[in-house]
Amino acid sequence: MKLGDWTVRAVREVSYRVTEVVDLLAPGNDALAEAARCSPGSRRLVLVDENVLSLRGEEIRAYFTDRRVVPVVVGVPGGEATKTLRWVEKIGLAADSAGLDRRDPIVAVGGGVLTDVAGLAASLYRRGTPYVRVPTTLIGQVDAAVGAKTGINLHGGKNRLGSYHPADHTLLDRGFLATLPQRHVANGLAEIVKMAVIRDAVLFGLLDAEVEDLARIRLSGETGQRVMHRAITGMLAELEVNLWEHDLRRVVDFGHTISPAVEMAADPVLLHGEAVSIDMALSCVLAAGRGLLGHADTARVLTLLRRAGLPVWNPVCDLGFLWSAVEDSVRHRGGRQSIPLPSGIGTCVFVDDVTEDELRVCVSELHRLAGTEAGIPA
Ligand SMILES: NC(=O)c1ccc[n+]([C@@H]2O[C@H](COP(=O)([O-])OP(=O)(O)OC[C@H]3O[C@@H](n4cnc5c(N)ncnc54)[C@H](O)[C@@H]3O)[C@@H](O)[C@H]2O)c1
Repeated sequence: MKLGDWTVRAVREVSYRVTEVVDLLAPGNDALAEAARCSPGSRRLVLVDENVLSLRGEEIRAYFTDRRVVPVVVGVPGGEATKTLRWVEKIGLAADSAGLDRRDPIVAVGGGVLTDVAGLAASLYRRGTPYVRVPTTLIGQVDAAVGAKTGINLHGGKNRLGSYHPADHTLLDRGFLATLPQRHVANGLAEIVKMAVIRDAVLFGLLDAEVEDLARIRLSGETGQRVMHRAITGMLAELEVNLWEHDLRRVVDFGHTISPAVEMAADPVLLHGEAVSIDMALSCVLAAGRGLLGHADTARVLTLLRRAGLPVWNPVCDLGFLWSAVEDSVRHRGGRQSIPLPSGIGTCVFVDDVTEDELRVCVSELHRLAGTEAGIPA
């Protein structure tokens, strides 16, 4: 017998902005100062990726001091090794030492690692502090820093601890990409190829026409902007209708079924987008095996990935490992496989019935294709 029974309902409305700008750190550009709500005499905790700090540190400091704002700059190393609770704690301690008010935004300038860790720290600090993201890698600009998810790794699991805490404002400046190593450009291109394959045939065509040039010039120029614009528009449209992931069938999970396990296990280390690329290649072979994606289109995707400088295979990909990765993904997706597979370029379906035998056939087919010069099915 119940003596009391209460239900509390509240709706948390969220809105956040993503803005593309040029010359973000130019003295006359107010975009960052406005986003970070800088007023003369205030202090701001500014977390900066260590590589970006050595390249742009002086400009970053000057940007704030010119506005009579004290930047408390903390360098944070890039790379997965930083996605730890230790770094979340360090950021919390830095926020305390900086003497931040509860509503003072933290500024996070760096790649997906920094924005993921900073976002989690911001979501925990005083149970939720605003922050501003300035992504400086391609994967950050098209993916990691435009959504709501934050995270760190735990016990060998990707993003095992995390939260949904979008930045109030994300400012994208492609100028940061000028210093990005080529491998990290390819890493970001993987997430753009993902959007193209599952929902945007026009984007696929743009990539297919000149992916090598786009990579070489780091998406500067007009086509680069079109590509970024389409990729981000598509991503935000997918996220907006399902920001809290109540629906676990997400087309943006294309390439993210076995990739978390591959990313954590590969030796030498694979980048996030590289693991996603291998997953996309395998998904395309699965789709081809089911007659969802034609062999010519499968070849186009695999070839595009390679042209972008991405791998389609890794020695870690043995059947036992990949099947346990699928099982882990099922746990992550609430008990169903919900694997997005392309059903043509620009569209996608979900499947729940991939068997270990089917995976065996596809893994060996992908291995065969990966060994051929262009990865093109016969
Ligand atoms: N939250 C999400 O929705 C989401 C989505 C996709 C990826 N991610 C996460 O993003 C992470 C990968 O992000 P990443 O590839 O940006 O990694 P990263 O932050 O480690 O950056 C990659 C490297 O580039 C360097 N760097 C950053 N900006 C630079 C610049 N402008 N010039 C020169 N060097 C620069 C960094 O120091 C680092 O060495 C993964 O942990 C992944 O899980 C998150």
